Amino acid sequence: ARQAKPPTLPMQSLRAGIFHTPRNSFLVAHTDGGLAIENGKVADCGDYSTIARAHPEAAVRDLRGGYILPGFIDTHAHFPQVRMLGGLGYGLLDWLEQLTLPEEARMADAACAYAIAQEFVAALAAHGTTTALAFGSHFPGATAALFTAAEQRGLRIFTGLVLSDRLLRPELHQTPDAAYRDSRTLIERFGPARYAVTPRFAFSASEAMLSVCQTLVKEDSNLRFTTHINENHGEIEQVARLFPWAADYLAVYERFDLIGGRSVLAHNVHAGASELQRLAARGASIAHCPCSNAALGSGIFPMRRHIEANVRFALGTDVGGGTGFGMLKEGLQAYLMQRIAPEPMNLSPAQMLYLATRAGAEALCIEDQTGDFECGKAADLVYLRPPESSVLAGVLKRLEDPERIIAALFTLAGAESVAEVRVSDHAVIDRRN
Ligand code: GUN
Ligand code: ZN
Repeated sequence: ARQAKPPTLPMQSLRAGIFHTPRNSFLVAHTDGGLAIENGKVADCGDYSTIARAHPEAAVRDLRGGYILPGFIDTHAHFPQVRMLGGLGYGLLDWLEQLTLPEEARMADAACAYAIAQEFVAALAAHGTTTALAFGSHFPGATAALFTAAEQRGLRIFTGLVLSDRLLRPELHQTPDAAYRDSRTLIERFGPARYAVTPRFAFSASEAMLSVCQTLVKEDSNLRFTTHINENHGEIEQVARLFPWAADYLAVYERFDLIGGRSVLAHNVHAGASELQRLAARGASIAHCPCSNAALGSGIFPMRRHIEANVRFALGTDVGGGTGFGMLKEGLQAYLMQRIAPEPMNLSPAQMLYLATRAGAEALCIEDQTGDFECGKAADLVYLRPPESSVLAGVLKRLEDPERIIAALFTLAGAESVAEVRVSDHAVIDRRN
């Protein structure tokens, strides 16, 4: 019998301004660009004239007047915190106790968790985010609701059950045994490739709980690991008291073999020189969340020190400690804070784009699949086209230089400018119809 061939879709090419950073911070810009897509993957990317000549059979969609970027990659957000956004005026520990943990306790209710999970994935997509590493909930049912919502929408979401057994509130604590059992059940149900072992932070995890994390990570090399580190002075002091044997915060996670190339640690605002050196040696990544760092008064991320120590980092929104879902806003906030940091940097538009896209793919070890428009990668993209009468539309009329266009997009574009979002060429948002 003849083998059935998989159905092939005709090649399509998108014509617009196209920008991406396939190598760290080196901008590839096609002002009149063509992105050829076949079977959900990038078949070719270049100047439109070149693409049109190389693929005369491709159906062309004329999207001139807007800009195509790789879909944004948010390396740190909390799904149960969507409705926490806007809670200003707190420091981390007060904010957790007074606002956040009571809201997270609501996820015990399946219907509530389902609704919030839907809101969360819809908001990611509406802001142009195609991939995210998100904290799930302390409740297995709610965490399953996020996996399901992500699958339904077609977003690439990495998540896992949040693990804690002390110092939060009793409803949010599990025993280490239950944590192991419930984590295994979720890993088996949704597969290890999108699962992240997620102790909330060393503050709320006993050594027995961190041992459970160690066991889980050791059992399956496909898993990711994510948690928080070095965010806030009060948090850091408490972690030092809880783990008196640890030389610093990172040493707690190291003791349980949790730090490696598949680890993403959020914040690292107050990092020691030795910690930076060890993070680099292990190839771990930092999720840099500049809006959250400012909103919670955590501090200014020492970006120059991370770069000098060769520590990988990418952007995260930290919804709801941050100020929303916008990855362009995070790029802008990173730029603003580094301009005035004690050891300042002047981030280029290409660096901002890299941090919002390809750097996230590298942190998640999926840079062979997404993060830029090299041939063979998934067609994960955001099409930005500001509303006709917006300030941004006017600004863009004056600009031809790609770097200036990208700077203007980071400064002025929000969800209202996100016209279309595709994951593997499947539309997750299309506002043009
Ligand atoms: N540390 C522990 N939990 C949290 C959280 O929910 N948000 C932030 N920003 N830091 C944390
Ligand atoms: Zn966080």
